[in-house]
Amino acid sequence: MAIVGSNRPGADRATSREANLTGDLLDPATFAQGHPIDLYARLRAEKPVFRNPEPGGSGFWALTRYADVFAVDHDFQNFSSEPTIMIADPGIGDGGTLGEAKMMLMMDPPHHTAFRKLIRGEFTKPAAAGKGSRLQALARQIVNAVIERGECDFVADVAGEMPSYVIAELMGMPLDDGRELYRLTETIHSAPETMPDGAIPQAVMAMFTYATGLIAEKHARPGDDLATRLLNAEVEGRRLTDPEFLLFFLLLIDAGGDTTRNLLSSGLLALTRHPDQKAWLMADLDARLDLAREELLRWASPVIYMRRTATRDTRIGDTAIAAGDKVVMYFGAANRDPAMFDQPDRLDLARAPNEHIAFGGGPHVCLGQHLARLEIDAILREVLTRMDGFEIPAEPEWLASTFISGPKSMPVRFRPDRRL
Ligand code: HEM
Repeated sequence: MAIVGSNRPGADRATSREANLTGDLLDPATFAQGHPIDLYARLRAEKPVFRNPEPGGSGFWALTRYADVFAVDHDFQNFSSEPTIMIADPGIGDGGTLGEAKMMLMMDPPHHTAFRKLIRGEFTKPAAAGKGSRLQALARQIVNAVIERGECDFVADVAGEMPSYVIAELMGMPLDDGRELYRLTETIHSAPETMPDGAIPQAVMAMFTYATGLIAEKHARPGDDLATRLLNAEVEGRRLTDPEFLLFFLLLIDAGGDTTRNLLSSGLLALTRHPDQKAWLMADLDARLDLAREELLRWASPVIYMRRTATRDTRIGDTAIAAGDKVVMYFGAANRDPAMFDQPDRLDLARAPNEHIAFGGGPHVCLGQHLARLEIDAILREVLTRMDGFEIPAEPEWLASTFISGPKSMPVRFRPDRRL
């Protein structure tokens, strides 16, 4: 998914009057305590299509209303995913392209449709459901590994373990390799200014090097896994090139990793800080988990934004948008829009209907959403029923990213118990 974590905040930020209104959507500090919901609310009310300046760049339109985000996400003819879905324009080593090859997240139909078709069968609701008991077993194994200690870093030891194991199984890789690759995605999603020079392109290259080895491995020893099926698949009448495979690989590792992890960590944080809501859930966990999980998705919105680029002169509401303009959809803001959600700043696990947009929408709507839901349910069930006295003693440190929202680490305590 995301390749470059954010743009650099710079000297020529918004003028002070604008900055008061906007904070700075390019500054990781704006997201340092989670989604800036007050800023979102001001923007939505005063400037729902806001021109945010961009140091060294052309600026972008920031969308904070649900209706606008929804409309743009569904309108690929006017709002393209090319050349990239990141605010910064593509650069060398950013992983969105490789020679002639492109990641499908950054393609438009019909090309995108052909690529998505290659793997969508693996991610349907029934296909995901078939993995349910295996996911529950993985969740049990993950909680077993910490349960006797009575404390752990929830982000690294529990929430992060699940998606890295799941993607490893899906691709037919050793579980430990999944964990290593997932560490690389953390670097890839960090704000460049918080990382040593060159760390992000190096992490992308390390990912490609691993995937190149996997190509050789799967050619030599084909397996019943997604990597083997991708290598044998045909797109537009031909096999995938190696660079196309590498970009698919990067997308899958990247898209399902810290998104799911962050939802789990932010979700447990929200439940712990709202004991009444947690009590409501625990009174009938099996029956209420569905609704609760959807509300946690709305609440946490782990993907902060996706960018589109206007293909022609058009309008969003009263605002004229010129061909070539960057248009950025803020999912966390859309998910707090009072025009769509009653009392949006209230965590209401019983909320129904709950048409949140945490998985995006339109042609690129999250392909892994059914799998993600099952991963989330498996961990929540295991943690909520086994980790008695679960507490988060301090406010967790948040990720330095303008793109992905969630705690960076989250020390937790619970009553030690025996492994199952
Ligand atoms: C809580 C967890 C997750 C969240 C919040 C999330 C969110 C998103 C969002 C917002 C998009 C972009 C949608 C748009 O542009 O409208 C997306 C795309 C995508 N997601 Fe997820 N995702 C999650 C988990 C996963 C998992 C577990 C996988 C797979 C293992 C996955 C695979 C993908 C892929 C492949 C795409 C690109 C789809 C395309 O370009 O057609 N995601 N996701």
